[in-house]
Order: sequence, then structure tokens, then C-alpha cells
Amino acid sequence: MRRKWLTTAAVTTLVASVLAGASISADEDSPLHKIMEKVQAKSGAIRKATRTPAQWKKDAKKAAESAEAIVKLAKETKPMTDAAKKVKDPAVKDPAALWAKMSDDFLKAAEEMVKVAKDSKTSAPDAKTAFGTLNNTCGACHKVFRIEEDDFK
Ligand code: HEC
Repeated sequence: MRRKWLTTAAVTTLVASVLAGASISADEDSPLHKIMEKVQAKSGAIRKATRTPAQWKKDAKKAAESAEAIVKLAKETKPMTDAAKKVKDPAVKDPAALWAKMSDDFLKAAEEMVKVAKDSKTSAPDAKTAFGTLNNTCGACHKVFRIEEDDFK
């Protein structure tokens, strides 16, 4: 009995240290992580602006500014090829090249979002479509390169 108890304690300790290791490797303070938090805030602002025609009328200018901020951030993330080393799918042969491509897709979609938001003829549904394209580039990259999983894309 005593031995069994010790084993359980040992397993508990092991699990705790593995979890601690996992949260360290998630890299809360990595430069990419910090940029992503900003990207998330700007993207949330655009999403909100595209919700209804009234909201779009009011916030299109703000959405353009947020998209411009994402363009700048996307230019910062592209050279961060260290993140590409954490590729999740071992079938990916050239993670650095894929990172570069996904960074370009992200940048292009953000630039398009700027254009769309600055065009006074853009309707809320059109803005939503452009935002959807941008948002898909987030999910595509996270699917390949982001280690921890949670409910957001
Ligand atoms: C070129 C690849 C790429 C693109 C494009 C990308 N991300 Fe990320 N994102 C990552 C990686 C890699 C991580 C994990 C970074 C880490 O934790 O060190 C991440 C992490 C995040 C996080 C988690 C940060 C946290 O607080 O845990 C958020 C939020 C996020 N991204 C939002 C977005 C949004 C929103 C978009 C699109 C508007 C986007 N990302 C586009 C690669 C990308």
C-alpha cells in the first residue's frame, strides 16, 4: 500500500513538472506571442466594425486603422522564422518556406482589408467578406505552427 502511494505521488510530481514545462515552452513572453496579442486586439476591432451596416458606417475608419496596424505587425512576424521550427505537422518539408508563404498571405489579406475599409462604397457585408479572408489566414497558420490548442482560430 505504502509503495503504491509513493508511486502515485511520484506520478503526480511528474505530471506537474511536465505541465510546468509545457507552459514554459508555450513562451508567454516570446516576441511573436506579444505581437499576436496586438494582432488579436486589432482583428477583434475589425470584426466588431463589420457586424452591422450601422456599425460599419460608424467604425469603418477605425477598421482601416486597425487593418493598417495589422499590416505593420504582419511585416514584423514574417522574419520570425524561429516559430516555423515549431511546426506541428512532420510532413511539412520546408517549414521556413511555408511560414514565409503564410506570412505573405496574411500581409496581403491585411492590405486588402485596408483598401476595402478605406473605400467609402464598401458595404458591411463586403467588409465582412474581406475580414473573413483575413481571418482565414490566421487559422491556416495556427493550424500548422501554433502549438497549444484552444477554442479560437
Ligand atoms: C504566419 C503565421 C501566423 C499568422 C498569419 C497568424 N498567427 Fe497568430 N500565432 C502564430 C503562432 C506561431 C502563435 C504561437 C506563438 C507563441 O505562443 O509563441 C500564434 C499565437 C496567436 C495568439 C495567442 C497569443 C496568446 O495570448 O496566447 C493569438 C491570440 C493569435 N495568434 C491571433 C492571431 C490572429 C487574430 C491572426 C490573424 C488576424 C493571427 N494570429 C495570424 C502564427 C500566426
